[in-house]
Amino acid sequence: MRILVLNGPNINLLGIREPDVYGSESFQDLLTLLENTAREENIEIVQYQSNHEGCLVDRIQEALGQFDGIVINPAAYTHTSIAILDALKAVGLPAVEVHISDVRRREDFRQISYAGMACCKTIMGHGIEGYREAILYLKDRHNNTAGR
Ligand code: DQA
Repeated sequence: MRILVLNGPNINLLGIREPDVYGSESFQDLLTLLENTAREENIEIVQYQSNHEGCLVDRIQEALGQFDGIVINPAAYTHTSIAILDALKAVGLPAVEVHISDVRRREDFRQISYAGMACCKTIMGHGIEGYREAILYLKDRHNNTAGR
């Protein structure tokens, strides 16, 4: 099984960026968590981070036929990007939305998630551990739908 993990703008600054909101774990810690999860679960995980909306759209498009699922934290593009929503709908791969912080408890402008409208699940407020939960969910779903 192959899972694409996509991260939007400023996620590369984890650990430096607003630690009271996003925690003290670094982006490198997130990459290590993904590597460990891939090894433990015997799946392939490819991570891509970009500060550019179109680059994220490109990667979603390229995932078609290459990956079995997408874990996406579109960061600020969550609340603005219809292009990311459309790309997720276009490829139709099972996708899980992850947010490190609990967005529901934050500003009004964060209360809309366009990407989330194309996702089968949303995990928020669990820190970087939320990525592992999202991967396990996709793996479970993949195993349950295999052969149907
Ligand atoms: C975020 C929440 C977004 O509102 C914010 O713009 C981010 C990170 C999160 O992971 O909690 O950059 O997606």
